[in-house]
Order: sequence, then C-alpha cells, then structure tokens
Amino acid sequence: MVPSILALVALACASSAQVSTSDWQRTIIFIHKETSPSQYVFLRGGLDHSRRADCVRNATVDPCSIPIRHIWTTRGHYLGYKYKTWCQGDNYLDWYGPEQGQGFVRSTTLYTPAQGTPMMWTTNGRYSRAEWCPQGDFNCRYPFKYDDFRAENDGFGYTPRNKWGYHYWMLDVLMDCSRTWSGWFDVKAYLTPEQEWEPDIWQKGSCRSRTYLPPPSSRNHMARCGMTNVFEWGQTLPCEIYPNDPDPALPSTVTSSPRTTRQGYMSSGK
Ligand SMILES: *[C@@H]1O[C@H](CO)[C@@H](O)[C@H](O)[C@H]1NC(C)=O
Repeated sequence: MVPSILALVALACASSAQVSTSDWQRTIIFIHKETSPSQYVFLRGGLDHSRRADCVRNATVDPCSIPIRHIWTTRGHYLGYKYKTWCQGDNYLDWYGPEQGQGFVRSTTLYTPAQGTPMMWTTNGRYSRAEWCPQGDFNCRYPFKYDDFRAENDGFGYTPRNKWGYHYWMLDVLMDCSRTWSGWFDVKAYLTPEQEWEPDIWQKGSCRSRTYLPPPSSRNHMARCGMTNVFEWGQTLPCEIYPNDPDPALPSTVTSSPRTTRQGYMSSGK
C-alpha cells in the first residue's frame, strides 16, 4: 500500500511541476470611437464561439477567454478612478461582461460594474482634454490648465503610442498568447452606459500589416497577440497591425519573463 501511495504523490508532484506553457506578451489595442466624457469603452473578446465548440459562459474556466495582466497601475484621481477600479480583478479578455471579483464603481445612487476589460481614453496631443469637453460644459473644461494627463499614469490622456488623434481607446496588457488561435484573437468594443455592442464587421484579411494576414471570415476585429493593433469602431478599415513601439517602456514592476528570486541575485553580489 505505502509504495503505491508514494507513487501517487510522486505523480501529483510531477504534474504540478510541469513547465508552464504560457507565453506572456505585451499586446496593445486601439479602437477609435468618438465619445463624450460620460461614456466609457470596454473591450470584449477572446476566441469567437464559432472557433471552438467548448466555450463556456464563465471567464475563469472558459478555454475561449484569454488571460491578461493590466500593465499600468494608474493614480486613479477623480477623473481616472473608474478605469482604475474596473481594472482590479480583471484577469481575462472574455465575452461576458463583469468577471467574478472585478472592481465596480458605486455611488449613492448608481452601481456601475465593469462591462468587460476597461480601455483608456487617449489622445495624441498633450494639454488637450478641454477640447474633448462639450462646448459650455464648464465642469469639464475647468481643469484644462492642469491638463497634463498621461494615459499610463492617469487612466486617460496623452500617450506617445497614439499617433492619430482624440478618442483612441487603448488597451495595454500582458496577454497569454498561448491561449490564442495561432497568435490571433477576436475583439469587439462595448460602449457604456448605452450597453451597446460594436456592430459586426467583416474583416477579410485586409489589414495593413507587412507580416501578418488575419485569418479570413470574422465578424469581429482580428488582433495579433504581442503586437499593436489599431481599429475603427464598426469598420473593417482602417486596420493596422505592427510591432510595439518601445516608448513608453514597460514599468519596472512588470516583467514578461518568469520572476527570478531576489535571494539568488543578492547572494551572487559582493
Ligand atoms: C466560474 O467558475 C468558477 C470556477 O469553477 C466558479 O468558482 C465560479 O462560481 C463560476 N462563476 C459563475 C458566475 O458561474
């Protein structure tokens, strides 16, 4: 009896010690959607249910959801706090809205859960938030003179990655590319508070990308893991896929390689 129990224990240890096959790569998505300050764009996606028969409506266990880690820990002051809150506990790109344990925004009258993976509102110009405000909305326009909001720090604002203009909603995450469809995955934007899905598009391998041709016949945007992907809400074109710009670099708290132990590093020192 004892040897067989030992054998079982040995087997269990062997399987839990298996080398992880996950492949974390920085993945950036922009979706251009003109919004007003009260609107927020979320991202939904993963593998389309038509690509796998075993998708289930639960992000944690769904083989069609894709593990992500948000890169930027934003300050989350009064204008960016919703983004910051919704990022908490958001561990998957999936199709199903709020994840179990994902942050929600609550005021005295309103309960506002995340409706997917939150994106950051970005612009290509600094000191430009006031131009985003509706004419005559003083509360919105007032802070413009302090307007040096950086998407990576504040959850919205300027980012050097945005080369195009206002309203380029951005996702900047580490993504487990091993869970994609040969490097591809589906995305669709979701607008709140309207609770409005981006309409179907019919992307047919027409993205501007030198190296990568998306798989044909998708009713979603097809994005490439480990790359920068730029899309237009509800449109097949323009659509660009290209390697990530090195600026701004990953913050030092985030690493895409397996963590090395601090101890080993110390003991090899002087
Ligand atoms: C999703 O699956 C996890 C793990 O099995 C479970 O704990 C959780 O309750 C499920 N969530 C829902 C909403 O069913």
